[in-house]
Amino acid sequence: MTTTQRVAFVTGATSGIGKATAIALAAAGFQVIGTGRNTARLTPLTGVTYVDLDVTSDESVAAALTQVIDRFGHIDVLVNNAGVGTTGAAEEFSISQTQDIFDINVYGVMRTTKAVLPHMRARGRGRIINVSSLSGFVPSPFMAPYVATKHAVEGYSQSLDHEVREHGIRVLLVEPGPINTPFAGHSVEADTPMPLYAAGRRNYDELIAKNLSSGDDPAVVAKVIVAAATDRNPKLRRTAGTTARTIDAVHRVAPARSFDRVIRRFNRMPS
Ligand SMILES: NC(=O)c1ccc[n+]([C@@H]2O[C@H](COP(=O)([O-])OP(=O)(O)OC[C@H]3O[C@@H](n4cnc5c(N)ncnc54)[C@H](OP(=O)(O)O)[C@@H]3O)[C@@H](O)[C@H]2O)c1
Repeated sequence: MTTTQRVAFVTGATSGIGKATAIALAAAGFQVIGTGRNTARLTPLTGVTYVDLDVTSDESVAAALTQVIDRFGHIDVLVNNAGVGTTGAAEEFSISQTQDIFDINVYGVMRTTKAVLPHMRARGRGRIINVSSLSGFVPSPFMAPYVATKHAVEGYSQSLDHEVREHGIRVLLVEPGPINTPFAGHSVEADTPMPLYAAGRRNYDELIAKNLSSGDDPAVVAKVIVAAATDRNPKLRRTAGTTARTIDAVHRVAPARSFDRVIRRFNRMPS
């Protein structure tokens, strides 16, 4: 069976931004495939077909793609949204733990992208929307491994976009600031905590809880993603939410030394 409807494939659609995006793309007329590691437990959403997918597994990605292409025939839009945060000082993370985080946030994006690209190239069109973050272009102390993954996603996306543009495909970035989702509760805690960072970690934990609970609704990001999926003239980067917009504007104009002070103040660190 195939469909004439536009098809969107959203990773990490079981919660937060991914779920809101699946709902918004379905409302915009897409047939949506939403993925997560265990989707059988979910309440069905109108216009969304759930498929199991673990972005850290080549086999899982291949199996999900085969299922979707067999059923719907094509994919117009891929939203690489699945991701996890990190809590702790950089020095407190083992390399093996950091590799696991990269496996989700960076190699997960690359795996899914590589699996979808041949199908998009064969049709000469498609859009890949990678959910980065404010942390994709500015520093965030006490979440360094996460920040490193999002900076990696930015570099990968912007380079890939140039390679596939002549095949009718665009690779676009959406950069949310703090959004009210269960992200903090799902974040990976450093596996080798050190007493000297305990106070900094506590400060970070309080700050992220406060920033996320007062952050924008995930529907705000979903709206930006739908725009990225449907715009006639796509924009390479789009911030999502009030904090990301404000900090992006300051980052563009502030001298490096002043911006450094903004980051320390924003993170309640001594100047
Ligand atoms: N919330 C924010 O403030 C914020 C800000 C900037 C950027 N972001 C980014 O937005 C994206 C979504 O975050 P969120 O806030 O919506 O967090 P969330 O509610 O924790 O959602 C994370 C999603 O990722 C999926 N996921 C995690 N590990 C996976 C894996 N190995 N394979 C497949 N799916 C996996 C989860 O699905 P299952 O657990 O069901 O598998 C879930 O659907 C992330 O990339 C995050 O970095 C969030």
